[in-house]
Amino acid sequence: MAGDTNFTNDIEESHKGHSYQTADAQGGFDVIKSDELTGKYMNLDLVINRYANERGQLIRILQKAQDIFGYLPEEVQAYIAERTGTPVSEVHGVVTFYSLFSTEPKGKNVFNLCMGTACYVNGAQELMDALKRRLNIDEGETTPDKLFTLKSARCIGACGLAPVLVINEDVHGKTSSSDIEKIIQSIRKKGEKSANKKH
Ligand code: FES
Repeated sequence: MAGDTNFTNDIEESHKGHSYQTADAQGGFDVIKSDELTGKYMNLDLVINRYANERGQLIRILQKAQDIFGYLPEEVQAYIAERTGTPVSEVHGVVTFYSLFSTEPKGKNVFNLCMGTACYVNGAQELMDALKRRLNIDEGETTPDKLFTLKSARCIGACGLAPVLVINEDVHGKTSSSDIEKIIQSIRKKGEKSANKKH
């Protein structure tokens, strides 16, 4: 553990006074000045330095990067590619192949509706349509207030509870369209309460 602390200190020391450069859409480089963003890239460097020399660690690095940034925008993918010596196309291929990765910022509450067979025959499609209408977004999108993201999932192994809606880590079984309103209202109320506490 002591080694870990020294390692962290070394990394922080080596980044003092430095800016980070990431590829922009035109393939050029933009200097990022935000302290918060710089901190995120510092954390990402820690992850890359720890795992880059081990084979088959790209997915783990991407998972950790998503934990740090909340999603995997192109500039983060390009940064990981450059730092790990991996072709950008390979990094992008992994990101787009696995549904756990997101290239768009996610909402505070991610609705993952299971569309596996058991859920489908028990009304998952109707539920998906109701969620789309209620949230006024399509699958894979996030509401403008960044409160909700709507996604579909493959079977999560809780078929006895079909149709299953997973909200963040919480599993809601035997969900009906009429439950949706209650769930959304309760999330909004909780959000309002915590916002009021801050003021
Ligand atoms: S099909 Fe939905 S949990 Fe199995």
